[in-house]
Amino acid sequence: MQKQDLLYEGKAKKIWSTSDANLLISEFKDDLTAFNGEKKDSESGKGALNNKISTELFKLLESKGVVTHFVEKLDDNHMLHKKAKIIMIEVVVRNIATGSLSKRLGIPDGQVLPFVLVEFYLKDDALNDPILNDEHCMILNLVDDVKELDTLRAMARNVNSILKPFFFDKGLNLIDFKLEFGKDKDGNIILADEISPDNCRFWDVNTNEKMDKDRFRQGLGGLKVAYEEVLNRILK
Ligand code: TMP
Ligand code: ASP
Repeated sequence: MQKQDLLYEGKAKKIWSTSDANLLISEFKDDLTAFNGEKKDSESGKGALNNKISTELFKLLESKGVVTHFVEKLDDNHMLHKKAKIIMIEVVVRNIATGSLSKRLGIPDGQVLPFVLVEFYLKDDALNDPILNDEHCMILNLVDDVKELDTLRAMARNVNSILKPFFFDKGLNLIDFKLEFGKDKDGNIILADEISPDNCRFWDVNTNEKMDKDRFRQGLGGLKVAYEEVLNRILK
């Protein structure tokens, strides 16, 4: 399958049309951004690592019955996937408090949450991705029916229930992650976007070392080595 027209360029991926109206190609870029694009850099090989990691995780989730947009990895930086109309909600799942949750609510960094927290944020860079409640989602027409918000929460919790033990077995604590969902041609909600250290937080279970994009956000260095280590542990 070949790339045709560039449909969209985001911060980490380009999306291309194909000869099949129901299939798209994502090109994983080496660009790195944080703080809504304020901090920028590029790391050669990052895109290929995220494509490999996402491929493995989509295959794992599919094998456990999660419906995703994944079709196949084409080459280092390209993934073929189903076309889906993206729901403009960033669904964040948190097992351990850190990042914006600790900052906003004063929950100590690293505190285990009493239950899995699922949050919705508006996918809108111009507004800096504000947090949403269900009523905000309905007022903004982000979903067609309020029940779809429960579907998003249930699917996000199910993904967590698969990924958290999978990573723990590989010596990584899955701290939190962000998912995006879309609707396929039949209107079914499917998991879309990517699942990579760009949008997940992983801490080594023994050392608490950060193995994700926080290395870039916090200027810790060693981003590529950490992403390679995440991939190697997934493949083990
Ligand atoms: P946060 O603590 O900054 O809100 O991030 C929660 C999770 O969501 C974390 O795993 C990083 C991920 N994330 C994204 O994928 N994209 C974003 O724009 C933001 C802010 C967070
Ligand atoms: N993805 C966002 C950005 O690129 C924020 C982040 O991941 O920290 O700016």
